[in-house]
Amino acid sequence: MSTTKDFIIVQNAHTNNLKNLSLEIPKHKVVAFTGVSGSGKSSLLFDTIYTEAQRQLIETFSTFARTFMPKLSRPDVDDILNLSTSIVIDQKKMGNNLRSTVGTVTEVNTYLRLLYSRIGKPAIGASFLFSFNHPEGMCEHCNGLGKKAKIDLDLFLDQEKSIREGAIMHPHLRWAVLWKRSSTSVV
Ligand SMILES: Nc1ncnc2c1ncn2[C@@H]1O[C@H](COP(=O)(O)OP(=O)(O)OP(=O)(O)O)[C@@H](O)[C@H]1O
Ligand SMILES: [Mg+2]
Repeated sequence: MSTTKDFIIVQNAHTNNLKNLSLEIPKHKVVAFTGVSGSGKSSLLFDTIYTEAQRQLIETFSTFARTFMPKLSRPDVDDILNLSTSIVIDQKKMGNNLRSTVGTVTEVNTYLRLLYSRIGKPAIGASFLFSFNHPEGMCEHCNGLGKKAKIDLDLFLDQEKSIREGAIMHPHLRWAVLWKRSSTSVV
């Protein structure tokens, strides 16, 4: 049975060109807004619902944390009920930066860091401790990349052989290959 908690209820939105629009948006479902350009999709979703969700979220932070957040004024709407934390994901090309994660691209990470910095043990002067991209905060083993490249010596070297006998097993670095290359370049 559906309850009103299953809907985000927007009452009298009048942001930009919206004319006191009231509607119920089902939660936990994929909902698409379509309409001609200028009909007010962005005004409803970004300038009204998302702005209000951000405003409500920021209100839950401490005064100190709030000084780092944007100051959002209340959007032009009478009320929005049953809002939860909202995330806007713009369509954009993913960079191939090794340090990009779903968290950083969606900016969820910013809020996670804030959360951990609040519930974590206070460490004065160590505000970077919650950043995996800052030298002071990153994991010292993987430098914040979450993975580490190292040589598997048993695959790379046959310890029983001399270099001339083919101790280096990497296909590009075998003694024979190196010898052939250098002799070719000499000729
Ligand atoms: N910041 C703003 N200030 C004043 N008017 C605005 C603002 N943003 C949008 N509008 C106006 O509100 C109306 C709705 O625009 P909106 O961007 O919400 O439409 P849309 O449906 O998202 O269009 P599109 O499909 O082009 O993205 C338009 O007339 C637009 O000019
Ligand atoms: Mg738009």
